[in-house]
Amino acid sequence: MLSSTLADIRHWARARLSQRRLRHTEGVAAVCCELAGRYGADVAEAEAVAWLHDSLRDLSDAALLKTASEFGIFIDDISRVRPMLLHGPVAAAAASRDLDLPGHMRRAVAWHTTGCRTMDVLAKCLFVADAVEPGRGYMGVEGLRTAAYSDLETAVLAVLDQSIRFVVARGELLHCRTVEARNALLLR
Ligand SMILES: [Fe+2]
Ligand SMILES: [Fe+2]
Repeated sequence: MLSSTLADIRHWARARLSQRRLRHTEGVAAVCCELAGRYGADVAEAEAVAWLHDSLRDLSDAALLKTASEFGIFIDDISRVRPMLLHGPVAAAAASRDLDLPGHMRRAVAWHTTGCRTMDVLAKCLFVADAVEPGRGYMGVEGLRTAAYSDLETAVLAVLDQSIRFVVARGELLHCRTVEARNALLLR
């Protein structure tokens, strides 16, 4: 149940999004609503979490670390080295300070960067929509789009696989939450 109105949430996010990020956000919102309708999540909540998910993506690494500390967010060793991973948790905390958001919406926003083994349907819709929105053009995205509209769990697993391959190929640190999310799907 959405407590702040969608208009409030869009307004809050628009004030923080660059033009480029705004286009991505509109794409994520459209796909997230479609997936929510298909898989039984609340469509208004899906649009809201999409609007919020990257609202603080343009903060610098230093600003993300500082803001995370100010909100009392635990900064693990991996996020300290890759502060970009904090843009989900920081956006969730900042939005909750200013808007009335239920916990499951906060968690969907927070976990969209790494995935999480406890993602519910709403969080999964956002996680997948973020990866396959129409502005995404990386190799393999068509397969993920097909999966997104066929089976949500399969799509989440495919996005996690893609994301893990990408991080490993770049020699970057892989967040344990991403591995836990993947293992949880394979163990179900
Ligand atoms: Fe993001
Ligand atoms: Fe995004």
